[in-house]
Amino acid sequence: MVDAALPRTGFADDAAALPRVVAYNEAVVRKFVIAAVFWAVVAFSVGLYLALELTWPELNFGLEFLNFGRLRPVHTSAAIFAFGGSALIGTCFFVVQRTCRARLFGGAALADFVFWGYQFFIVMAALSYVMGFSQSREYAEPEWHIDLWLTVVWVAFAVVFIGTLLKRQEPHIYVANWFYLAFILTIAVLHIGNNLAVPVSFFGAKSYSAFSGVQDALIQWWYGHNAVGFFLTAGFLGMMYYFIPKAAGRPVYSYRLSIVHFWSLIFLYVWAGPHHLHWTALPNWAQTLGMAFSIMLWMPSWGGMINGLMTLSGAWDKLRTDPALRFSVTAVGFYGMSTFEGPVMSVREVNALSHYTDWTIGHVHSGALGWVAFISFGAIYYLVPVLWKRTQLYSTKLVSWHYWIATLGIVLYITSMWVAGIMQGLMWRAYDAYGFLQYSFVETVLAMHPFYLIRALGGVFFVTGALIMVFNLWKTVHDRSTEPSDGRVQVGQ
Ligand code: HEM
Ligand code: HEM
Repeated sequence: MVDAALPRTGFADDAAALPRVVAYNEAVVRKFVIAAVFWAVVAFSVGLYLALELTWPELNFGLEFLNFGRLRPVHTSAAIFAFGGSALIGTCFFVVQRTCRARLFGGAALADFVFWGYQFFIVMAALSYVMGFSQSREYAEPEWHIDLWLTVVWVAFAVVFIGTLLKRQEPHIYVANWFYLAFILTIAVLHIGNNLAVPVSFFGAKSYSAFSGVQDALIQWWYGHNAVGFFLTAGFLGMMYYFIPKAAGRPVYSYRLSIVHFWSLIFLYVWAGPHHLHWTALPNWAQTLGMAFSIMLWMPSWGGMINGLMTLSGAWDKLRTDPALRFSVTAVGFYGMSTFEGPVMSVREVNALSHYTDWTIGHVHSGALGWVAFISFGAIYYLVPVLWKRTQLYSTKLVSWHYWIATLGIVLYITSMWVAGIMQGLMWRAYDAYGFLQYSFVETVLAMHPFYLIRALGGVFFVTGALIMVFNLWKTVHDRSTEPSDGRVQVGQ
């Protein structure tokens, strides 16, 4: 791709004035975009199936591979690592080339190895879950062979990214790359630290953690929370810092704030893990530490949100005409919402109510659907016409339909889970006049049923929206109406 005539956004690849020509590796980015869209449909559909299973447990048909326990990690891994990961690596490869004015380091073969190696990891992990292999660490379920493979792929990814940064033609490293770099390096450290284990069987795929007892739990939640912080947050903030200014045609509101956002976020996040272990055998001081750092996280999170939203100053009118930008901006709103809720839930007394309940599931999906999925949709809608050299998307009306249907889906999902979760927590702790528990456990399960139904309906909406996106993107790539008549590409270049 030859870079020319970019809209002025004030950062490195805004180089209409610079006549340098770089042939970017866009083939690998296209593959990652296709993979992200494919895994989005898989992940959301499995999520929907799980929601239906929780509503009507008979839906597992007595088959062990349709069992909730086996399918749940398929959903979480497909959503976070397959959909989210493909969107992250794809956009990371796109952004680093554009903002560094350099082709990906290591040639097409290394970049393709990252793509195919990563997809292989996902397929291996999913197969192992349905076959019943798991090391029972949430978001790190794969057994040791698969972990080793991911380590190799991740190192290759880091080499491509850091190599590209090193050979950049721009003196400055644009802030999105700092977030992507934090994502790559921290996930490497977390993955290795949390998966330190003693393998005891090769074909039986079995290992034992190198840690035990509460130390093991702390290592797991140091990993788990930072998977949220660096996979589901830092990487997607990299996306935000590139695609929102691009789509809005405005520079980042405050570059200084973005730097403060970066350093404070990465410094604070790594200490917050113990908030997952309130009221456990973990020493009280460690729980308090986790809580204090979680509350402090409010500041950088909201600083980042304000920076993202204010980037639209003077360009708010674009929201009327560009529904793809609407996805990105709504995503930033959800980022603010879930990072407001998280610190509240980290307070020990609040957590006494929320932990083990569906309030947590509501919190997760306001971040996962509202922030992670929406910011990715915004980036994908931006990227497809650019990568496939189309004048525009096939239909902006369909983007708008996707937006409203998915938003309605999120609202149904998260509100039902909040109400259900708080009700569940209150029922569990209700006593009658004689000091006995007022409700048996099964009564609390029965009370959840209508809310599970509403959540599943929200899932139907979200999946429908994703299918509309697939249709629109397919038509964008294949319909003649979006082909440039004079070879010029209109969107983003
Ligand atoms: C159609 C969309 C989706 C539906 C219907 C859905 C449904 C579900 C269901 C039913 C569960 C199990 C809840 C439980 O154990 O009680 C779950 C868990 C989870 N989902 Fe989703 N999901 C969707 C999309 C996503 C996306 C896009 C992501 C991430 C990007 C995601 C991340 C997660 C995570 C991390 C959990 C585990 C939560 C926890 O353990 O606290 N989901 N989802
Ligand atoms: C300032 C930011 C945030 C803080 C302080 C925070 C805090 C928390 C707390 C206290 C819990 C409940 C822990 C428990 O009771 O076990 C939780 C769960 C969770 N949060 Fe957040 N959160 C934040 C942002 C986010 C965002 C943006 C996302 C998603 C994109 C997210 C995803 C999750 C997930 C997946 C879980 C469930 C973990 C599990 O499986 O138990 N969080 N968070």
